Amino acid sequence: MKEPPPYLTEDEIARRVTELAAEIDADYSDSESLVLVGVLKGAFIFLADLARKLTIPRRIEFLAVSSYGARESETADSVRLLMDLRHDIRGEDVILVEDIVDTGATLAYLQRLLAARGPASLRTCSLLHKPDRTRGHVQLDYLGFTIPDVWVVGYGLDYAEGYRTLPYIAQLPPEMR
Ligand code: IMP
Ligand code: MG
Repeated sequence: MKEPPPYLTEDEIARRVTELAAEIDADYSDSESLVLVGVLKGAFIFLADLARKLTIPRRIEFLAVSSYGARESETADSVRLLMDLRHDIRGEDVILVEDIVDTGATLAYLQRLLAARGPASLRTCSLLHKPDRTRGHVQLDYLGFTIPDVWVVGYGLDYAEGYRTLPYIAQLPPEMR
């Protein structure tokens, strides 16, 4: 598989992740029950880097979702929970950590799901956001980068399971899909 050129370099990503971690450190300095909930698979690398840059106490949890019946580079309207959290989040300070917010359907679904479980607080953090594609309101408390309506891969993001472990983020040109 040929490697597409960087759109966001490793350095640019690392700098922004460090800034986000500093913001979260400051905002949660009084929290003793911070839980970062990563959305598999896309957020696993971002979450790993973000979590290691935090200095406050935190726990890591994962859940997994998939979208129904969409083409690989389209996102679907309906979201399915493939794997749930293993621990109760009642009374905890939760940050939902996503790789990218596209239509916003996944984030909205997961926010409803987690909010119903009675966390002490619930915020969201996404590395990327494509506002041109987002329908309706999304609550994004921490955001790495705003990007145009292009398909991006690398740093956890895939195209048909490919390119996920590229160390940087690339735009996937149409001829590589
Ligand atoms: P949404 O529900 O439409 O916001 O889509 C969110 C999910 O679609 C993300 O968590 C990704 O898994 C996937 N996705 C959307 N855009 C991209 C992209 O450009 N590259 C890789 N995955 C994407
Ligand atoms: Mg995702």
